[in-house]
Amino acid sequence: MLRRSLSSPLLLKEIRAEQLQLCQRTAQFTHSPTGTMTDSGKELIDGESDRLKKSKTKQKGEDAWKPEGPKDPFVMLDSLPEKKQQEIQKALHLFGMAPNLPKSLHQAKTHTYHFWDTQPVPKLGDIITTFGPIQESVNSIRNEPYSLPQGFSWDTLDLKSPTVLRALCSLLNENYMEEDDNTIRFDFSQEYLQWALQPPNWQFQWNCGVRVNTNKKLVGFIAAIPADVCIYGTKKRVAQVMFLCVHKKLRGKRMTPVLIRELTRRVNQQGLNQAVYTAGTVLPTPLSSCSQLHRRLNPLKLMEVNYPGLRKNLSSQRALKFNRLPEGTKVLGLRPMTKDDIPGIHTLLQTYLSKFPLSPLLSLQEVEHWLMPKENVIYTYVVEGDTGSLTDVVSFYSISYKVLNHPVHTVLSAAHLFYIASSATELTELMEDALVLAKCNGFDIFTALNVMNNMSFLEKLKFTISDNSVHYYLYNWMCPPLSPDKVGLILPN
Ligand SMILES: CC(C)(COP(=O)(O)OP(=O)(O)OC[C@H]1O[C@@H](n2cnc3c(N)ncnc32)[C@H](O)[C@@H]1OP(=O)(O)O)[C@@H](O)C(=O)NCCC(=O)NCCS
Repeated sequence: MLRRSLSSPLLLKEIRAEQLQLCQRTAQFTHSPTGTMTDSGKELIDGESDRLKKSKTKQKGEDAWKPEGPKDPFVMLDSLPEKKQQEIQKALHLFGMAPNLPKSLHQAKTHTYHFWDTQPVPKLGDIITTFGPIQESVNSIRNEPYSLPQGFSWDTLDLKSPTVLRALCSLLNENYMEEDDNTIRFDFSQEYLQWALQPPNWQFQWNCGVRVNTNKKLVGFIAAIPADVCIYGTKKRVAQVMFLCVHKKLRGKRMTPVLIRELTRRVNQQGLNQAVYTAGTVLPTPLSSCSQLHRRLNPLKLMEVNYPGLRKNLSSQRALKFNRLPEGTKVLGLRPMTKDDIPGIHTLLQTYLSKFPLSPLLSLQEVEHWLMPKENVIYTYVVEGDTGSLTDVVSFYSISYKVLNHPVHTVLSAAHLFYIASSATELTELMEDALVLAKCNGFDIFTALNVMNNMSFLEKLKFTISDNSVHYYLYNWMCPPLSPDKVGLILPN
């Protein structure tokens, strides 16, 4: 097991040497000896590849993602077995040498956002009291996609094709890491990605992939789906951005700004000028900074896999006792959602969610898409009152993980709270039943955000706060920040 092998002094020494070599080579690859960024880095920051085409620096820009002969750390990494690569990554993480974006507003104050400072987003530290677009309208939308470095091409992913979906699953599962210590990885299924990326009115053009020309390998991705939201009373159709991912061997090479610019261009082409997205890191400028909370359902397994964010010194016995749940559900009339419940759920959700300054405006078709139960994807339960009308709804979506290098466990399932709304049942009772149902469905952990009125029941139900934040952002829209309890929008991914 990785943790055990890392404690061997010999191996640790070996990893340190490799890590040092790797860092020196990576530094040569993207930085000048003085520690300032090379031209190639700056070019890709600006991303205005056309402007750069003419100049000598263009060659460097195009080469930015290309391995550079014997100095290329990625060739070196490639030649190592997968397990060794994980050990190096873990070591980089442990010694704090992996490149990190600010996780807190405090850290963000000293970070220079070369790309984000060029975008229509509020600057960090600005006091915002006005409401509306930052750029009134997009004057001219370029027809051509943004240029990519030589050797890479855009590929609009056709998510109806199982082969394409498989390639996307591989990219995300191998690179969309939950933790940078690389002991647990996402294990997105094709069904999950179809659910997340193909709601009503999804746009084919908004699934932007980057492939390597020679072998067609998918190495970058960003997607958006259309969503109607209400922001401080203004109704807007926005692009909801998701699944930004760059292959781990191409990190730190400014592919992200190019992906974001290209997606923005495609979104602008459809007449939309605003976007909503979340990130675990601080970018300019969070609309709201929310916390993730976890509730153990299978405490022993979580302890055994050392689930991130739960590393507390509880004995097995105490953990079992502390996290015990009732054998069965208690709320009368609670049952899985059926198609007939769509109008009732729509009314319940719109009534409940409209109280929050940031909320979704869901159509009946969207309620059906997002909430109709699908095994291993989305679970929704309703409470039917005595008169046959629906009084409450609770839903959670499923995120699966692969556990790496563990002698016993290979998978882990997390239920993520999606939408919950109640008009008759206490939220705490409804949520307690949701925990029981998630446990019955084989989930190991339940995760929720401190958004909406969730704090009224999360602590009572023994959810514990993790170090992970989820920052909400709006692109090209100015409005005052929101505390988490004012957020009524959930973005699964
Ligand atoms: C997030 C990820 C794509 C960033 O790639 P990277 O190689 O580290 O970054 P790049 O060199 O390509 O680009 C750096 C720029 O992208 C920005 N950036 C990094 N992560 C970002 C994010 N999640 N959202 C928006 N911008 C982001 C950086 O702030 C930086 O811009 P700046 O100069 O203005 O600060 C990559 O780390 C990844 O795939 N991670 C795993 C999946 C993931 O966490 N996705 C994000 C989900 S929100």
